[in-house]
Amino acid sequence: MFEAFQIPLNAGTRHCAVLGQPVKHSASPAMQNAGMAALGLDWRYLAFEVRPEDLRAAIEGAKAMRFIGLNLTVPHKVAAMELVDALDESATKWGAINTIRFEARDPQGRWQPLQYFSGALPDEVRSQGFNTDANAIVDALRDDLEMKVAGTRILLLGAGGAGRVAALRLAAELPTEMFLVNRTAEKAEGVAEEIRQRFPQVKTSTNFPEGKVDLLVNATSVGLKRGDGLPLDEGQFPLQRAAAVYDMIYRPAETTLLKVAKAAGCRTANGTGMLLHQGARALELWTGRTAPVEVMRDALVKNVYGD
Ligand code: ATR
Repeated sequence: MFEAFQIPLNAGTRHCAVLGQPVKHSASPAMQNAGMAALGLDWRYLAFEVRPEDLRAAIEGAKAMRFIGLNLTVPHKVAAMELVDALDESATKWGAINTIRFEARDPQGRWQPLQYFSGALPDEVRSQGFNTDANAIVDALRDDLEMKVAGTRILLLGAGGAGRVAALRLAAELPTEMFLVNRTAEKAEGVAEEIRQRFPQVKTSTNFPEGKVDLLVNATSVGLKRGDGLPLDEGQFPLQRAAAVYDMIYRPAETTLLKVAKAAGCRTANGTGMLLHQGARALELWTGRTAPVEVMRDALVKNVYGD
């Protein structure tokens, strides 16, 4: 539908891209191109498979070609912290970058997004790193589970890259208690310690909770592969003790966890909302305009799940 309004590719077309490895299954091009077309922009969003050892060159190359911006996905989000010219507070706060915006100086010497420079190309351009992933979990919980995190008890499974950021961002909303559980216990302990330092009001432990929780979040990769079972042992924590279950996985649409949780009477949502909100915010950073969230959601759902 919205493709019909896209301005044909031409020499003035501006570009954004996602860099990752692997990147072939990324839904970001579908979602972002729909958003850009809906805003009437002569822009395109591409995807490039980039090896970690080539990340620096890829970012510099995009900068040299005056791309508007980049998204970064696995495995580049932490490494990029060392590779950009400037860090937004969101990147320093969460220790990872999923969005880069290229910027140049305006006549007053202030750094502005490159999209504002349409005529002669500016000589000096810098890359600024942002994190739009972290806030996306809060947006998705609000939209999809009508949930506010403040004052709740949360069980979070997983303490890898995604789990760490989710745990810290949720802690910033001041739940009463957080339980962090991970296959490799030391990693959960490391994240718990970080929360205790930064958000001492939140009671944080690394065991399964007694009694009920308001929210269980899966931030492990268990559920991604066909035939994957539950990311937790129901002997340790039966799912009917969770009021709501959020699985950060969006493909497949219904993991074993979500299926079992639904049958146990929990409210459930998958990770589509997180992908949507991090992308919508990235588009806003690049354009300075409100993202057409519903258009992006439709394109995303169509790309991931088909018609
Ligand atoms: P991401 O960037 O998606 O977070 P990651 O950093 O590799 O990826 O983290 C994957 C998470 O899934 C980790 O919490 C990992 O547990 P470990 O820290 O013990 O590796 C978890 N995970 C992966 N496979 C798992 C499995 N079979 N059982 C339990 N947890 C698993």
